[in-house]
Amino acid sequence: MSNKKHRKNSEYQKGQHLVLIGFMGSGKTSIGRSLSYKLKRAFYDTDKMIEDREGVTISDIFASKGEKYFRELETDVLREIREDRIPRIYSLGGGTPVSLQNQPLIKTIGTVVYLRLLPEEVWERLKGDTTRPLLQCDDPLSKIKSLMKLRAPAYERCADIIIDNGSKDRDEVISEILGELEKRGWEIPPESYLQSKADDTENKE
Ligand code: S3P
Repeated sequence: MSNKKHRKNSEYQKGQHLVLIGFMGSGKTSIGRSLSYKLKRAFYDTDKMIEDREGVTISDIFASKGEKYFRELETDVLREIREDRIPRIYSLGGGTPVSLQNQPLIKTIGTVVYLRLLPEEVWERLKGDTTRPLLQCDDPLSKIKSLMKLRAPAYERCADIIIDNGSKDRDEVISEILGELEKRGWEIPPESYLQSKADDTENKE
């Protein structure tokens, strides 16, 4: 096997973005929005970027042009983000890190946070959801389990920070992420960090 396959995250020249990855329903969008407020950076969801460009929903893209076409759009968006010099927060679609072509791109874009959930936790959150074409099947829980098994190594390979997001409340997760970023030399606006800690305390009471 080539050395390239075994590169560690630290060997990639990192961009300045904060990138959120994880399975469908792992909270990337809501955590991303809160982090945007705390870190005073704009937040973008790549699914939304794709929908805006194509002028249709992700479900429509899957139905009319197929998953392969959608995956090409995801790679195009990653290439654009790599060229974006203003530090922002990006949340990626749950399947984006799976492609071997996308993994080095994701690692170079910035610091990558993997929001990890158990399949049962995903199912609890997404029961009744109709916007994820991959889960519109007879047995969505089995599909979640098999996809998760396939994808977990890809998420782990891309991640700089792994946060278990299943049983924690949002502020606790935000606090953990800010703490991890601070350890890596990020400047966290003090009031944001303190506010998160304060929120944590309130929520535990
Ligand atoms: C997908 C996840 C979705 C969306 C598309 C495919 C996947 O994004 O990109 O439905 O393959 O896991 P979210 O993770 O934001 O739900």
